[in-house]
Amino acid sequence: MIRVAILGGSGYTGGELLRILAAHPYVEVVYVTSREYAGAPIYFAHPNLRGYYQGLRFEKLVLDKALEADTVFSALPHGVGLETTAKLLESGVQVVDLSADYRLKDPGAYREWYGFEHPYPDLLEKAVYGLPELHRDELPGARLIASPGCNATAAILASAPLVKHRLLATNRIIVDVKAGSSERGSKPSRSSHHPEREGAMRPYSPSGHRHAAEAEQELSRLADGEVRVSLIPHAVSSIRGVLASAHGWLRDGVTGTDVARAYAETYRGQRFIRVIALGKHGTVDPKFVQGSNYADIGYAVEKRVARVTGFAAIDNLVRGAAGQAVQAFNISRGLPEDAGLAYPPLHP
Ligand SMILES: NC(=O)c1ccc[n+]([C@@H]2O[C@H](COP(=O)([O-])OP(=O)(O)OC[C@H]3O[C@@H](n4cnc5c(N)ncnc54)[C@H](OP(=O)(O)O)[C@@H]3O)[C@@H](O)[C@H]2O)c1
Repeated sequence: MIRVAILGGSGYTGGELLRILAAHPYVEVVYVTSREYAGAPIYFAHPNLRGYYQGLRFEKLVLDKALEADTVFSALPHGVGLETTAKLLESGVQVVDLSADYRLKDPGAYREWYGFEHPYPDLLEKAVYGLPELHRDELPGARLIASPGCNATAAILASAPLVKHRLLATNRIIVDVKAGSSERGSKPSRSSHHPEREGAMRPYSPSGHRHAAEAEQELSRLADGEVRVSLIPHAVSSIRGVLASAHGWLRDGVTGTDVARAYAETYRGQRFIRVIALGKHGTVDPKFVQGSNYADIGYAVEKRVARVTGFAAIDNLVRGAAGQAVQAFNISRGLPEDAGLAYPPLHP
C-alpha cells in the first residue's frame, strides 16, 4: 500500500480526495490536516464520509508527520504550501499539488498573474503539469505533479485538438466558462455566500483570469508557437461543474470533417474523455459528468462565418481537481489509470 497524506483535507478538494481514495485499492490514507477541525473525525467536515476512515482524525499540519507518507496530496490555498512542498521533495516524498503553486513554468508568470516572486524556480522546471492527456509520457516516476486548475482543464481539453491539428486561422482563442460555486472553496465570502450566489449568472475576472496563463502555456506548447487565450468565467448557480466553450476561426479550406477528425484522433483511447457528437442524443453538460472523472467533449462548426467552438464539461472537484490528481498519481506510480476512479457519473 502507498501511504498517502492530504494537506488541507477539510476543504472541498480535500474531501473529494478522501472520497476517491476511500475506494482506491493501492492507497492507505495515513494523515489528513486541518486547523479548524484538528482532533475531529473526518465526517465532521465531510458528512458523506461517515463510516469511512474510522481510525483517522484531522491533525494540524506538521512537516515531520507529512514526511512519514510516500505521497502527499496538497489541497491548500495557493501560496500556503509552497515551502512545505519543497521540503517534502527534498526528503524524497512525492507531492501532488492541487494548488497553482507549481503549474507555471515561467517564474516571471507568478509575478504577473499571482503577484509574488516564485522562490523555487528550479522546481517549476521539474514539475509535471498533471493533465494526463497532454503529459502522459512525463508522468511515470514524476516526483512533483502540478495538478491543473479546473477552468484551465476545461479550456485546454476543449481547444487542444484545434491547436494540435493547426485548424485555426489565428493564434487567439476566446474561452467562455460557466462555473459552479464549489470552485470558490468551502470558506464563504460575500460573493459566494448562498443568498448572493443562488440564481447568479455573472462574469468575474473578465479582463484576465489567472487560468488563462495555464491554458496559454499548454496550448502554446502543443502548437509549438504562441497561442493567446482570453478566458472569462461566469458564476452560475450550480454547485459542481465547469462548461468551457472555446471559440476560434477556422483557416480557409478547413471543413467540419477535419474538425471531427481532429477531436477523434486527439482523444482516441483516452480513458476519461468522451467525445460526443452534439445533437438529439448528444450534449455536453457538466450535469452528466457529476461525481466522475470524465471530461465530455464536443465541437460545433458554423460554416457561414467559419467559426469553430470546442466544448468541455467537467466536474470541477473531480476532473478539475481531486480525480485528475489521482489519475496523474496512478500513472506516475505505474498503477491502473482508473484505480479509485472507475465509476460512472450521476444521473439525474
Ligand atoms: N474548488 C475547486 O474547484 C478547485 C479546483 C482545482 C484546484 N483547486 C485548488 O485546490 C486548493 C484547495 O481548494 P479548495 O476548494 O478545496 O479550498 P477550501 O475548501 O478552502 O480548502 C482549503 C483547505 O486548506 C486548509 N487551509 C487553509 N488555509 C490554511 C493555512 N494557512 N494553513 C494550513 N491549512 C490551511 C483548510 O483547512 P483549515 O482552514 O481548517 O486549516 C482546508 O482544509 C486551492 O489551491 C484551489 O485553488 C480548487
